[in-house]
Amino acid sequence: MDEFGQLCYEISNCKNCDLSYSRRRAVCGYGEQGAYIMVIGEAPGTKEDIEGIPFVGRSGALLDRVLAQCGISRKELYITNSVRCKPPFGKAPRSEHIKACSSYLSREIKMVKPSVIVPMGNTAIAALSIVMKFKTGKVTEINGKILKLGDYLIVPQFHPAAILRSPKREEVFRGNFERIAFISKEIKNKGMENLLSSRDIELVNL
Ligand code: URA
Repeated sequence: MDEFGQLCYEISNCKNCDLSYSRRRAVCGYGEQGAYIMVIGEAPGTKEDIEGIPFVGRSGALLDRVLAQCGISRKELYITNSVRCKPPFGKAPRSEHIKACSSYLSREIKMVKPSVIVPMGNTAIAALSIVMKFKTGKVTEINGKILKLGDYLIVPQFHPAAILRSPKREEVFRGNFERIAFISKEIKNKGMENLLSSRDIELVNL
């Protein structure tokens, strides 16, 4: 078994918190191992809980549509969640659930080594700030900003469920993914150093 298989095996059998009692399936991360972009959601919904794959429900359909409009295919991504088991009654995961799952996210980041990490929504921002030990603001304040931490660029984004609830935000959501597509292509074609020295890129050091 490779290290992704091993990680997924552990997630599938995880009993680190009470969500393991009500889940149908724990949902592992999905995507390319050396992906330039890692997208982090909140927690599985009903469809993901049944199928065991992240973002296959309504939020996933919106995400796929906007990614396609920005020229990003799912094949270029590694997509994962802050919490791997569905919380009951459509509730947001609590901080103990995020903490109990944080070592999985940490291992995925080390394994995938993405250049750009996109936490979608406040739960994912909280999960990433635990794993990478930084403090930052809420998604409404920092979405679309390019935050630099070590070798990583972090671009916080709204969660697609927030766009389903408030469609007027879709333009901003798309604009943020256009910027993410641009910087990941620049990194792929010219390298991170070139991007960082470009005057068109405004970075916030964490
Ligand atoms: N919302 C998430 O945050 N993650 C999923 O996998 C599905 C919906």
